[in-house]
Amino acid sequence: MGAILEVKGLTKRFSGLVAVNNVSFRVGEGEILGLIGPNGAGKTTIVSLISGTLRPTSGVLRFAGREIQTLPAFRRAQLSIGRTFQVMKPFPGLSVVDNVAVGALFGSGGGHSDLSGAREAARHWLDFVGLAHRADQHADSLGGPDRKRLELAKALAMKPKLLLLDEVMAGLNLVEIDEVIEVVKKVRAEGISILVIEHVMKAIQRLSDRLMVLHHGEKIAEGHPDEVLNDIHVIEAYLGRRRV
Ligand SMILES: Nc1ncnc2c1ncn2[C@@H]1O[C@H](COP(=O)(O)OP(=O)(O)O)[C@@H](O)[C@H]1O
Ligand SMILES: [Mg+2]
Repeated sequence: MGAILEVKGLTKRFSGLVAVNNVSFRVGEGEILGLIGPNGAGKTTIVSLISGTLRPTSGVLRFAGREIQTLPAFRRAQLSIGRTFQVMKPFPGLSVVDNVAVGALFGSGGGHSDLSGAREAARHWLDFVGLAHRADQHADSLGGPDRKRLELAKALAMKPKLLLLDEVMAGLNLVEIDEVIEVVKKVRAEGISILVIEHVMKAIQRLSDRLMVLHHGEKIAEGHPDEVLNDIHVIEAYLGRRRV
């Protein structure tokens, strides 16, 4: 299987703190790679290093065979790396559909140059994530679960080849989690490769083809989800956390 993303020796220092320490991994074409680890492990930092909102201290990032670590975030988005944000920031004055249309306007090769085409694409992605019925409301009127769906629709409207999902299930109930799992599976069925960060173990186990564990910025395990979750080091890293 070819790799859509290859990460080699990725390191990020924030003054004294090493948030990500010499981490290497790959995401295969059409693969779902799960990323777990305790709070502060460096998961969101890895997403920001891949999407370009942060620059690595050292290391190489190769997307579709091309080195991207020096490219600004907007260029990486154009190359079709999409992400969601752990803390969501919808454009507050805009309707739900126009929030997604912004993603369609600024997306990769398939980006729309006119607003009506972008809105049409936006409605398609709202339907895809189950939010079509709220398309014309103000984005700030959405509750937590619908904001997660909006965030996902915005990222999808950019037509990513690689999608980085940072805790899109946080704060959702079990029914809502099942719905998001189905949406993420549909995303993969579109041929999109996915790096998914999630604290909900049941969800990550069901979704991931492979699972990688970070602890204090270092990769401590990687492999089949069932094996990794039984790995003694992983259990130690999670000691005191209830596994769901
Ligand atoms: N912009 C930043 N400046 C300084 N330290 C940061 C910054 N972003 C993250 N960190 C630190 O890096 C570590 C990893 O954070 P993060 O990647 O957000 O972890 P996770 O997403 O796994 O919870 C934490 O100790 C965090 O406080
Ligand atoms: Mg995080």
